[in-house]
Amino acid sequence: MQRFIKTFKDYEQFYKESIENPESFWESIAKEFYWRENWEKVLEWEFHTPNVQWFVNGKCNLSENCLDRHLENKANQIALIWESNDPKVASKIMTYQELYVQVCKFSNVLKSLGIKKGDRICIYMPMSLEVVIAMLACTRIGAIHSVVFAGFSAASLADRINDAECSLLITADGFHRGEKYISLKSIADDASYICPSIQKTIVLKHSNTEISWKSSKDLWWHELMQNVSENCQPEPMDSEDPLFILYTSGSTGKPKGVLHTTGGYMVYVGYTFKNVFQYEEGDIFWCTADVGWITGHSYLVYGPLLNGATTVLFEGIPTYPDHGRFWDVIDKHKVNILYTAPTAIRALEQFGNEIFKTKDLSSLKVLGTVGEPINEDAWQWYYENVGKKRCPITDTWWQTETGGILIAPIPGVTPLKPAFATLPLPGIQPVLLDEKGNEIHGNDVEGNLCIKFPWPSMARTVYRNHERFKQTYFSTYPNYYFTGDGAKRDKEGYYRIIGRVDDVINVSGHRIGTGELEDVINMHSAVVESAVVGYPHDIKGQGIYAFVVCVGPVDEEALVREIQTLIIEKIGVFSKLDKLQVVKGLPKTRSGKIMRRILRKIAEGDTTNLGDTSTLLDPSIVDLIKTEAK
Ligand code: WT7
Repeated sequence: MQRFIKTFKDYEQFYKESIENPESFWESIAKEFYWRENWEKVLEWEFHTPNVQWFVNGKCNLSENCLDRHLENKANQIALIWESNDPKVASKIMTYQELYVQVCKFSNVLKSLGIKKGDRICIYMPMSLEVVIAMLACTRIGAIHSVVFAGFSAASLADRINDAECSLLITADGFHRGEKYISLKSIADDASYICPSIQKTIVLKHSNTEISWKSSKDLWWHELMQNVSENCQPEPMDSEDPLFILYTSGSTGKPKGVLHTTGGYMVYVGYTFKNVFQYEEGDIFWCTADVGWITGHSYLVYGPLLNGATTVLFEGIPTYPDHGRFWDVIDKHKVNILYTAPTAIRALEQFGNEIFKTKDLSSLKVLGTVGEPINEDAWQWYYENVGKKRCPITDTWWQTETGGILIAPIPGVTPLKPAFATLPLPGIQPVLLDEKGNEIHGNDVEGNLCIKFPWPSMARTVYRNHERFKQTYFSTYPNYYFTGDGAKRDKEGYYRIIGRVDDVINVSGHRIGTGELEDVINMHSAVVESAVVGYPHDIKGQGIYAFVVCVGPVDEEALVREIQTLIIEKIGVFSKLDKLQVVKGLPKTRSGKIMRRILRKIAEGDTTNLGDTSTLLDPSIVDLIKTEAK
């Protein structure tokens, strides 16, 4: 690959080139891929509307680049390894040739159901070979996939289907996750009932469990795949044609349908996968994220397949059947590169180091983390026990909206510093801004993290709501993309991500909007109003603390139970509260704004240092909340 970073000198040279001449830099990388028609212009942009276009008028197809391009040399190489939740169930593998055939067949199935370029398809599936087939088939025919994490409730699934007006839902009978069984089809049925746009549901037989069946709508995956042609020409897509929608939470309102487009996403994700993981031919790569999140899209599916890599899909969890499972999977499949989340590392760290005596992790070369800030302690533990001090750790900072990794050390190249995402990748121009919107220059500084120049895989819009896109990301600081994160730049110019500066919390790497949670809590008939904040949590990174105001006296135990049930129903079990405190009132300013800063302090257990409370309407409320804090 062009501009592959092998030394720190390379990094410095490519970085410089990418800033001084971004168009020729990205053009040289784009040429590595297969294009049906060349672009007329590399980049067109302004951050006001905003309007960003990469590889203007170029035509390509992502599935063709992930599959067809590799058939000449690597038809028999393994593309996917599937590892079941149950270690006794045999793993499955699929070569590039086999994956290609399955994708072509499923593309023809989609076409036979009338699916056309631009149609939206909701994918609500377990971690399986078929979820990858479904995604690639969508991209092959130009349909826009919207993958919904299989941990979301029926209500959340329905919201997402309705927002994008998906005409097809692809799901499975069910699956096991640790000890639990998730009856996906019945959740999908509950959702589909309130989704008028859904014409058909394709059901994968995965857990072989009994399910209910609607003969007018439901179709079995395996039946549809019989007698279908194995040939399907990829649809030539414009660079800027929509590729997929992925919903993510923000400070306010419903989740946003972040929209990514084709050409730029392909080029950036392909380039960063190769560099950030220092992927070499033959490496086995394992990203433990679920396909339902952006990490799964970019670095479990598309990044590895664009590079002709072997990628592991794991259906289970780190602690089932015991806390050695991750290490067993690494040993079994001889994993070379492991990409996981700090929350998983912290959860496993609790069990101590005895386990490593019996596990062979010698295949590992590179370790990665993503999703939340990694504390130094967890970093060291990962480095010493998993990587045996031989494997560099790449702490990758990015977001659903950025499409790919923006700030991360290049393993073996960038000098490491625990808990630092270190330096921007080529093409990325981060800046720190102060409250007034001025750039903070120099080093040893802290501010709000923004990006001042476009990169190929940035989100282009919020689906059917460009105004919201502009408001959320390009209005806080005109002419900058605002990430919502705060960051430090240390003496050497290394970045350390501190965390969100808005009302988004990060629980076990899951991004949760506090506003969304409050809306659900407020649905309870006894609740008048509520405020949700995050607080430091040893394993999850952040825990969820809700302050709730009720009408009259309540049975607190029952209240907690009922609110948890509501949250599970409306969002999903991963959003359950850690703490709930019934309070007489919330600390508000005279203009009625809740002072979350104070609630955050109380949730943190820091009640001595609440800062200025003089603007509060009723300061006595704070004393009351403080004394009853959980
Ligand atoms: C938010 C984005 C794209 C990765 C999966 C999460 C936090 C992500 C790091 C990191 C510190 C991180 C940020 C960001 N975050 N990676 N390496 N260090 N914080 O994607 O759900 O869109 O969440 O995750 O706060 O804004 P997401």
